[in-house]
Amino acid sequence: MSMKLLVIGSGGREHALAWKLSQSPRVRKVYVAPGNAGTALEPGLENIALTAIADLVAFAHEEDIALTIVGPESPLVEGIVDVFRTAGLKIFGPTRKAAQLEASKIFAKAFMQRHGIPTAAFASFDSPSEAHHYIEQKEAPIVIKANGLAAGKGVVVAMTLAEAHAAIDTMLIENKLGEAGSQILIEDYLEGEEASFIVISDGRNILPLATSQDHKRLLDNDQGPNTGGMGAYSPAQIISPTLHAKIMREIITPTIQGMARDGEPYIGFLYAGLMITPQGEVKVLEFNCRMGDPETQPIMLRLKTDLSILLEHAVNETLDKAEIEWDRRTALGVVMAAEGYPGVPRKNDVISGLTEIMSNQASTDDFHIFHAGTAFGDPNKNEILTMGGRVLCITALGENIKLAHHRAYDIVNKIHFEGCQIRHDIGYKGIENPNR
Ligand code: AMP
Ligand code: GLY
Repeated sequence: MSMKLLVIGSGGREHALAWKLSQSPRVRKVYVAPGNAGTALEPGLENIALTAIADLVAFAHEEDIALTIVGPESPLVEGIVDVFRTAGLKIFGPTRKAAQLEASKIFAKAFMQRHGIPTAAFASFDSPSEAHHYIEQKEAPIVIKANGLAAGKGVVVAMTLAEAHAAIDTMLIENKLGEAGSQILIEDYLEGEEASFIVISDGRNILPLATSQDHKRLLDNDQGPNTGGMGAYSPAQIISPTLHAKIMREIITPTIQGMARDGEPYIGFLYAGLMITPQGEVKVLEFNCRMGDPETQPIMLRLKTDLSILLEHAVNETLDKAEIEWDRRTALGVVMAAEGYPGVPRKNDVISGLTEIMSNQASTDDFHIFHAGTAFGDPNKNEILTMGGRVLCITALGENIKLAHHRAYDIVNKIHFEGCQIRHDIGYKGIENPNR
């Protein structure tokens, strides 16, 4: 069998998924729509400059694509899975309705309440005066969240009530987030440590992926603004076997069963952003209807099983037959971001050192450079330019987290572009508490 696959998206997550899929002996080619400079250079991958759903459907028919895999949330929320299925095409991801678990925080909260899934106490508002009145009865810190998708800008963890009042006005009166912020959630603040728990589901059966931990704040020591994620590692030691079982029992299984019971079986990657409280309780901060970025990069570097087989089981509803094997080493990814990120990023800077290192990576299995916001510059100069907020994710394996950290940063230090922002402490929670 020699299949052609299609991965939709252009970030580091999609580069990692497509790279992993291309390693299957069953796969002839992986198209990436639209991809980036890294996916263009990767053996076995080919970029196609398409983004409209109708064009992707036509392409999948023409090229006889065996399976399409969707990276980001927005095409899922737009209903790409529904459209592909109606057109008789195989696609891995949740339907538009199932993707509401991410697209509407109020939907997700009501779902969790209905199915007894632990999460922070909350109330929802579209009236600013009622929202202001509600927080007068509460204490800071308190969390204000836009209901809809807001590209990472929809959550304000207010350390004072003044900040909370301001966030309400920004969303409900000034409409700074548009429709996404026309309804808000006000949520109790949860104390603890965050972890990402990602599974594959076929609507009924569940296959958990390796655990991971992201680093959401821009600056070292979890300071500065929230970002999409500045680095991640896997496995996350904080998820002990006991905690793993508890998360499956209290959160993941009831979510998959709840979606099925509500008539909207969840097929796809399901990402639960969790808070582990100091008392060992686990609560859901958010659901995402896709893989995490940058969590995917270290997770894919550790995955030994053929990803195309796992995803085929998921779309055929035979995930109970799937087995999954992991590299026992730790993988750690460091994001190199452009100046200005998470605000408006500076673009078009030449990235130096990159092509030399990428030409070495084929000869070793212990690191891989995943591209996100990159594009080609002057073809005669073999140039790669920055073209987005998160530019690269340098991902390395090591016998332990400290060695993976050193390996990744050795490579980071050889790559340069003007205004590059990195965190220096990716993995620090695991390094400080190696035995927990
Ligand atoms: P979300 O997009 O809902 O995951 O929120 C983004 C980030 O805000 C999370 O990764 C947490 O760091 C923080 N956050 C969200 N909800 C809460 C909460 N209830 N308590 C404390 N921090 C939170
Ligand atoms: N890294 C967090 C996310 O993908 O949502």
